[in-house]
Formats: sequence, structure tokens, C-alpha cells
Amino acid sequence: MCGIVGYVGRTMDDTALDVVMEGLTRLEYRGYDSAGVALVTDDGIDAEKRSGKLENLRAALAARPLPTSRTAIGHTRWATHGGPTDGNAHPHRGGEGDRLALIHNGIIENFHVLKKELVEEGVEFRSETDTEVAAKLLGREYDRLGDLTKAMQVVVNRLEGAFTLLAVHADSPGTVVGARRNSPLVVGLGDGENYLGSDVAAFIGHTRQAVELGQDQIVTITPDRHEVIGFDGAPAEGRAYEVTWDAAAAEKGGYPTFMEKEIHEQPHAVADTLLGRTDESGRLVLDEVRISEEQLRGVDRIIIVACGTAAYAGMVAKYAVEHWTRIPVEVSLAHEFRYCDPIVDGTTLVVSISQSGETMDTLMAVKHASDLGAMTLSVCNTHGSTIPRESDAVLYTHAGPEIAVASTKAFLAQITACYILGLYLAQLRGETYADDAKSVMAELQGIPAKIEDLLGRMDRVVEMANFMADTRSVLFLGRNVGYPVAMEGALKLKELAYIHAEGFAAGELKHGPIALIDAGQPVFIVVPSPDTPHELHKKVVSNIQEIRARGARTIVIAHDGDEDVEPYANEVIRIPRCSPMLAPLLAVVPLQIFALHLSTAKGLDVDQPRNLAKSVTVE
Ligand code: G6P
Repeated sequence: MCGIVGYVGRTMDDTALDVVMEGLTRLEYRGYDSAGVALVTDDGIDAEKRSGKLENLRAALAARPLPTSRTAIGHTRWATHGGPTDGNAHPHRGGEGDRLALIHNGIIENFHVLKKELVEEGVEFRSETDTEVAAKLLGREYDRLGDLTKAMQVVVNRLEGAFTLLAVHADSPGTVVGARRNSPLVVGLGDGENYLGSDVAAFIGHTRQAVELGQDQIVTITPDRHEVIGFDGAPAEGRAYEVTWDAAAAEKGGYPTFMEKEIHEQPHAVADTLLGRTDESGRLVLDEVRISEEQLRGVDRIIIVACGTAAYAGMVAKYAVEHWTRIPVEVSLAHEFRYCDPIVDGTTLVVSISQSGETMDTLMAVKHASDLGAMTLSVCNTHGSTIPRESDAVLYTHAGPEIAVASTKAFLAQITACYILGLYLAQLRGETYADDAKSVMAELQGIPAKIEDLLGRMDRVVEMANFMADTRSVLFLGRNVGYPVAMEGALKLKELAYIHAEGFAAGELKHGPIALIDAGQPVFIVVPSPDTPHELHKKVVSNIQEIRARGARTIVIAHDGDEDVEPYANEVIRIPRCSPMLAPLLAVVPLQIFALHLSTAKGLDVDQPRNLAKSVTVE
């Protein structure tokens, strides 16, 4: 969950430092409790690092400008081993005279054993991190071999766990060596300069030509070349591609925060995720499938594994996929699934949902499911990330880069992708509901315009958020597909505004949580479409009456034209009418806007809430 940048150019000037600082600014969403840079200068390595956000490092660099250089690495950290202090910040140093600097993303699981070995050799450590062990090991191997790439090859073969490493050495100006296992690394190809980054955002302002490194690969960049080898030393190649989005997409595009921008990008996120899903004959297709159609036809159970917002997208999907395929669907938090001795076999399809594709809990669940013989399918927003690579099939969401830590547009894209998956499976099985595929797809195509319309009517929600800035607790209720939407609304409020918030199944309220209701308690109620079967709409209206009678302040999210809610609502937020299954794609939007503006009204950091990280790469 750290951000990593590397640069080599031809000219000794400030470019290397500027490029790395710009990259770190774009990668800060990956972690932001400390940051550091190291340059190879004419006098050896010069480095600076600071705890806290990037601005602290910037201030330190302004106070003590570094000499010119053409080789730099930079790191933005989310602490795992060792607290977020100056000393634990990266880069870490190693080798004779500290002439090597190294940065790391991930966790080195066997660092205790390696540290013991080094301490016995007399090596002294200055931090509590696992990273410094890699730095000291690499320094030692460099001193022995005199070649940074060869030294890296020796070291990576001794490390266990997940890591992306970048290193520079004072004796090798114009060279950065990187390596990756279970953690991402991308090369950016420039003209007489080359880049490395945790993702393309690190160098998107400079080049769109990228090479994604494979698992267990080492790359050496100089201004004119990049050379890839496997951890075994054999020549290898990464996957070259052109980045299709531009630098503006990684910036705020005129909005005050990334989150606001991303909420407004939701019509595109849904539309793009729907793009190109059918073949010439109009049949739905997935992006990458390494499972035969026959095997997929034999799926008799689906388990969705995910964390956070992605898990709520999975809960929404459960209703639709079961409805369309009649295959039982379970939703399991990935970290619970991994250690609960799950019942899984060759006819189980384990569907992981992850925006980043790097969430360690989800990755471990996928690996475990594979080991148990299940088929695995990944719904993911990040091309080339680890979870899709570990899965038998992939369906990418096309939400574009999501920078704000709390997820918004990825949620809508995930629901959309899961619906496509459900319809695809229905089509394969030829169930009765396969006929629905066309009509549902057609209705989905109309959803982006409805989200656009909805975003244009959020003034009252913004006003409510502003006058509710002192609220201490908010409840959210929903039923059926509205239940996970209620939980997502509560999660957004916790993440962004640090307010106690809970999402409940509206029917469950009377079995306990109703005791929480007293005078003035704000309660959001996600009302199902009046077209929902089994009179569910009426039942939710009764639930609203029950809490209103006990003094709750009811804020009702209802479809256009649903007049039944009026008598019991203190506030009604209208969403465009749509069929019941598609309503989550609309109903969640006012809840996101509410949390965003309440957080802003409290003066909080919307994009980087306290204690959170965008991709959590530890279990
Ligand atoms: C973190 C983020 C959440 C996100 C979850 C899953 O906890 O703070 O916003 O929903 O990870 O992330 P993923 O990348 O797997 O979707």
C-alpha cells in the first residue's frame, strides 16, 4: 500500500527530484504517513525523509535543497512494520558507507530470521522496519558482487512475502533496479529517460508507454534501456501497453476533491463498464477466461469474496445473480472466508471483487479458493494487478483511476460488472431468465443518464449535510438490494465524517436496533421501487411509520412518483424511476454526496481520511 517512484535521465539537474516528487503526489493515495526520496549525486547518495504527509517532505527539501542528480527514487508510506516516524520512513540505507538506498512496498515475512543473521554479522539497524533488512542485505550483496542487478537477484531469492523493491547505489549513477513479487511495478518508457512506478499515475505526466512487470521479475532501467530478468536470472519480458487515460484523469479536473470528481464520473464508470460486452452475435463476453464454458455451465454455487465497499457491491449482486441464474450465491468478507475452513469444490465459482486488485485479504481468499479446487473469477478495476492475475477469469470494471481513499465510482462499476457476470452465467445456462439479459442490458444502458440527472438534483442533500455537521449518529435502513446500499451509506459516513453510523435491514429493526431511536435521531431509509415484488415497498413504508412514531427524523430515498412515503418523511430525496434490481446504482449516490459534504462541513480531509489506505496490502 505504499507508493513507489523511480527515475533516470541523462542530465544532472533538478528533473530527477521534480519527477519523483510529482509521482509521489499522484501516488499519495497509496499511503501517506511518511515520505522520502534518495538521489545519486556527484558525492554519493543524498536522501531526505519525513513522517507525515508529503508536504512535510516538501518543506524539508525547501529548507535543505538537494544537489542536482539524474537518478532518483521516492516513496510514500503506509506503515506496517514500525510506526510512522522519520526513522522508519523510506528510503533505508545499506552497504559499506551507506552507499545504497532502497524503498519497498509490501511485507517481508521472514525479516526476523534475516535480521538475526545480519545482526550476528555485526550489522547495525536504525529502524524497526522489515525494509531495512532488505536494504542491508542488498548492500552486503552489492559490496560482494559489485553489480546492483546481480545483488538484487540474490536478495529477492531470500525474501518471503510481498514486495516491490527499488534501489540505487552511489557507484551506479544512471541506474535504478526494481523487483516485484505479489505487489505491482510498472516501467514508463521515455526518450532518453525512464521511469518506474507502483502504477502509471507515477509517470503519466511524462509518458504513456508502459511495461508491466510480471510476477517475480527484476528490471534495470538506465536512460536508454530497460532490461527485465526473472528471479532466476533468465531474460524475461514485461507486457508493453499504451496508457489510454491522461494526466488530467489523475488530477482533480476542477473539483475541490478527488472524491467529488469521482462521484461525478459515475455515469462514465457505469457506461464504460458496459462497453464492448457483446460479441458479433449479441452474446455477452468476459474479458479474460481461462475456464471452459462447460465448466462454467456446471457451476452450482457462487461465493463472492471482497472487503469494504466491494463486499457491499457483492451483496447487491447476490440478489440479482440468484434471481437471474438460480445459482445459490453467498457473500463472504474475504478475511473471514480465508480462515473459516470454507466448503468449496470444483463446481464452486469464487468471485472476488476489488477496485485495486491488491487487497491482501481478498488475494489470500482467492489463492485459498484456488488451492481448494474452485474456479476463480475476478471483478477488478486495475489492469495487471495481482488478483486478476491469480484468477481463472477476469471481468474488468472501467471506472478509471480511483484516487480518493473511500470508494465511490468503483462501487457502481462493480455492481454493473457483477450484473453483466450474472447475465453471462444465465446466458450460459440457458435458464429462463437468459431472456432477460437483453432487456436488463438495455435498461443498464440508460442508467448513466439517470445518474447524471440525479447528480443535478443534489442541492437539498448538500444543505442537509451542512446543517447536520454536528450530528453524532446516523442510521441507515434498507431491504433487499437496498440493505447493502444502507450499509454502504453508513460506511461512507464512518470513513469520511468519522460519525457513528450503522446500516440495518429495515425488517430487523424491530428485533433490537429500534431501541436506538429517540427524538431527533436521523435515519435514512432506502425505499424499494414501488414495483418490487412481495409488497416489499409497503413493508418499508410501515417501517418508516414505526420509527417516525418514536421520534426519528426520517430522510427517505424514494423513486420519482412514489407518493406513499410523503406522510412519514421529514425529507424526501427523489431518485429517477428504474426497475428494482437497478435501483442501488442510483440510491447510493445521495448517500455518497451526503457523506462527502458532511465531511467537508466538518473541515475533514475527504480524500485521505485518517487511518485508512486505498489498497490495504496486509492481512
Ligand atoms: C480499503 C478501502 C476501501 C475499499 C476496500 C477494498 O479498506 O479503504 O474503500 O472498499 O479497501 O478495496 P478494493 O481495492 O479491494 O476494492
